[in-house]
Amino acid sequence: MRPLVSPRPQRIVRSFSALVLVWLTFDGSTAVGQDVDFAREVRPILEAKCFACHGPKKQQSDLRLDDRSRAFRGGAEGPAIIPGKAVESPLIDRISPDADPEEAMPPKGDRLTNEQVATIRKWIDQGAKWPDDATTGAGKHWAFVPPTRPALPKVRDEPWSRNAIDRFVLARLEADGLKPSPEADRVTLIRRLSLDLIGLPPTPEEIDAFVADPAPNAYEKVVDRLLASPHYGERWGRHWLDAARYADTDGFEKDKTRHVWFYRDWVINAFNRDLPYDRFIIEQIAGDLLPGATQDQVVATGFLRNSMVNEEGGVDPEQFRMEAMFDRVEAIGKGVLGLTVQCAQCHSHKFDPISHEEYYRLFAFLNNDDEPTRVVYTPDESRQAAEIRRRIV
Ligand code: HEC
Ligand code: HEC
Repeated sequence: MRPLVSPRPQRIVRSFSALVLVWLTFDGSTAVGQDVDFAREVRPILEAKCFACHGPKKQQSDLRLDDRSRAFRGGAEGPAIIPGKAVESPLIDRISPDADPEEAMPPKGDRLTNEQVATIRKWIDQGAKWPDDATTGAGKHWAFVPPTRPALPKVRDEPWSRNAIDRFVLARLEADGLKPSPEADRVTLIRRLSLDLIGLPPTPEEIDAFVADPAPNAYEKVVDRLLASPHYGERWGRHWLDAARYADTDGFEKDKTRHVWFYRDWVINAFNRDLPYDRFIIEQIAGDLLPGATQDQVVATGFLRNSMVNEEGGVDPEQFRMEAMFDRVEAIGKGVLGLTVQCAQCHSHKFDPISHEEYYRLFAFLNNDDEPTRVVYTPDESRQAAEIRRRIV
């Protein structure tokens, strides 16, 4: 099957770069000046002294201090932290050294040191800043932290960096007292570029052309050529095919051959035609339910059908139908939500963002299909079939 639409892959490439940026800056410290750093200075105190009764497991007086929104909502007596106003914050009354012994927190064990109380007091007076990624439990998981575009880091060697990603790499090198390696020669560059973008080495002719190209944008031209190559989708689609459990056989004891390469080609073409990510997901999870679904959109739902199939004699088909459903929930969890949801299949966990009940809500979406075998046609065959139908009429 040839690509259905001409390749235009820049958008997917851009999302990859954004991901790399997020990753590069993920553990970057944000501490500035004299501000109390919640994650480093405040949270450890709460964890040691308060979480046992106001944490994930127990919430005495309905107060939970390990989760930002719950912490600011307060307990049975209302908000305990008033950002900017330590004097008015009930939490400070409870921990200060002159607290009413009936009310002092923690109610048993060592009280907070004066220094610890001062840190929390200062943190509240400074506005009680609680960064998104400093929450424990559900709120902390990276899958729930919306990616934001970070500010470009300052670097000493400004002219060296040619783009935003360079700045992040350089800032880190400079922080570690390292110098960038010198630029690679063109033979090395085109080899790396080709392997990265299409998974294949360059031909001797392509190398010669690049080495001899005097254009100032010679490098960009090679990038554009490789992005437009149909091999681009083969190289980068492979990662998604792994997440989609793509295989050419059924698995288990019989391990029979299956014919799902139309789905494989759908993924490759999706990369090559730069299908936007929302369409990419919608068509794979529910392409068959789209109004006037095309063959292509139905083929996309092969994503769900890639589960193993057990055709061994004597098995209980319902058992393995269920196994396939669990497998599909898992594929959506890992591939789409960025979450391993499988643990919630049998019971809830205190740190798991997905409860047992929610797991089966997700499961229910998938557990209402029948499993038809679809006949699908290559573009050539579709043309022939249309021609035959025209002649019959
Ligand atoms: C051993 C269990 C325990 C520990 C540890 C503990 N608390 Fe409490 N906390 C309680 C209980 C029980 C109550 C409800 C009784 C009360 O209001 O005094 C409570 C109530 C509170 C309240 C009032 C909440 C409301 O709205 O009713 C605040 C504020 C509070 N605790 C803060 C803290 C802080 C801050 C820490 C850590 C420094 C802490 N607690 C540690 C058991 C604990
Ligand atoms: C196929 C069902 C199933 C799955 C999937 C499952 N569990 Fe369990 N889990 C159980 C059962 C049943 C028990 C109780 C075992 C017992 O009490 O002997 C249990 C007990 C536990 C306990 C001990 C609870 C306690 O209070 O003693 C923990 C912790 C736990 N599971 C964590 C997990 C994690 C983490 C995962 C995912 C990696 C997971 N479970 C996946 C069935 C499952």
